[in-house]
Amino acid sequence: MATFKAPKGTYDLIPPVSVKYLAVREAISAPLRNSGYGYIETPGFEDVGLFARGVGESTDIVSKEMYAFETKGGDQLALRPEGTASVLRAALEASLHKQGNLPVKLWYSGSYYRYERPQKGRYRHFSQVGAEAIGAEDPALDAELIILADQAYRSLGLRNFRILLNSLGDKECRPVYREALQSFLRGLDLDEETVRRAEINPLRVLDDKRPDVQKQLVGAPVLRDYLCDACKAYHEEVRALITAAGVAFEDDEKLVRGLDYYTRTTFEFVHDGLGSQSAVGGGGRYDGLSEMIGGPALPSVGWALGVDRTVLALEAEGIELDIPASTSVFAVALGEEARRVLFGKVTELRKAGVAADFSFGGKGLKGAMKDANRSGARFAVVAGERDLAEGVVQLKDMESGDQTAVPVGELIDTVRGRLA
Ligand code: HAM
Repeated sequence: MATFKAPKGTYDLIPPVSVKYLAVREAISAPLRNSGYGYIETPGFEDVGLFARGVGESTDIVSKEMYAFETKGGDQLALRPEGTASVLRAALEASLHKQGNLPVKLWYSGSYYRYERPQKGRYRHFSQVGAEAIGAEDPALDAELIILADQAYRSLGLRNFRILLNSLGDKECRPVYREALQSFLRGLDLDEETVRRAEINPLRVLDDKRPDVQKQLVGAPVLRDYLCDACKAYHEEVRALITAAGVAFEDDEKLVRGLDYYTRTTFEFVHDGLGSQSAVGGGGRYDGLSEMIGGPALPSVGWALGVDRTVLALEAEGIELDIPASTSVFAVALGEEARRVLFGKVTELRKAGVAADFSFGGKGLKGAMKDANRSGARFAVVAGERDLAEGVVQLKDMESGDQTAVPVGELIDTVRGRLA
C-alpha cells in the first residue's frame, strides 16, 4: 500500500528538534507577555474577503498564494496567510476597542498558509509569533514593538540580524508620491506584468529584485522626499525613541513590504546567514486597515516574526539553546513487582512536580539503561526483586555514575532534595 508524506512545502516538527520551536515561541512571546500584551487565538480560516480587502487584492499573498476554497455550505473561505487581518477582525467583533482602554495590545502564535514556491526558509505552512497594538497613533508604540522584537532575538543569542526601517507615508502624502512614481515608471522599458504592477501597486516595483529592473530604477522618486510634515515628525520620533533605547537600525527607503495595509512606519528584521529568504520578521503601522474591513478608524501597529526562519537563523549562527532535559528521573524496573512499585513511584514523583519517565515494554537492564541515558535524566532509579526485598531502590546519579541505596519510602524526598 502507498505510504503518505507531508504535503509539498511542509515539514513535521519532531523531537528532539521540535523543542527548539517551542523555545523560540517562548522567547519571542516572553517580552510581549511582560509588556501588557494579552494572548489571542483566532481560527485557522476566515472569510476570503477579509484577506482580499485587508491584505490587498493585488498582493502576491492574496492573488497567487492563498488557499481559498468553497465549503459544502457555499461559504468562501481561505486558510489564513497572515495574522493581522484576523486579529483586527476579532478585536472589532468583540468590541475590544469600545472598552475604553486603547490601545488594545494582543499577541498570538500559530500556523499560516501560503501557496508559495517552496525552498529553504519558504514553506507553504509556517508559523509566526505576532503582536498587534490596536487603536493608538503614538510613535512610542511603534518603538515599543521594534524594541521588544530586538529583545526577543537577543534573548535567543542572535547577533547577525539587522533592522530595516522606513516610512510609507499616510493617506495625504502617499497618493502624491504614487503619482510621481507612476509617471517615472511609465517612462521605463518594463515587461508587461511589471507595467501592470506599476499601475496597480507601483511601490511594489521598487521591490523587484531583478538587476535589469533595479538598474532602471536609479533616479526614481524617493518617498522620503514626499512625506508630509506630520509623517516626517512621526518618523523622526520613532527613530529617536529606538535610538535612545540603544537599538541599532538602518534607514531603508526601498522597504515597501508585501502587504497593502501599511502606512507610515514599516520595518523588517533580516538575518545575514539565510540567503534569499533573509526576512526573519516584519511589520509596521496599518492606520487604515480597520476602515478597510468595515470598522471605525483605529490606527494600529504590529509585527510578526517567523518561527521557522528564526530557527534557521539560530542554526546559521551555530547557537545551541540551553534547553534543560525534559526528564529528571528515569525509572528502571527489573521484574514484575519492581514494575508495580516503580510505576507508582513515578506517578508520585510527577505529582510532586518532578519530571519522570519509566522503562516501558519490559526491557532488560541494558536496554532500559540505554533509554535512561537517551532521556537525558539526571537520575536513574533502578530496582529488582532483591532491592525490594531489602526495602530499597538504587538511585544512580547519571552524571557522576555514583549509586546509592535509598529506602523506598524516602525516594521522593531524596530525589527532590538532590535536584534542588
Ligand atoms: P510577513 O512579512 O508577510 O508579515 O511575514 C512575517 C514573517 O513570517 C516573515 O518575516 C517570515 O519570517 C515569516 N514568513 C512569511 N512567509 C513565510 C513562508 N512562506 N515560509 C516561512 N516563513 C514565512 C506579516 O505576515 C504581517 N502580518 C506582519 C504584521 C503584523 N504587520 C503588522 N502586524
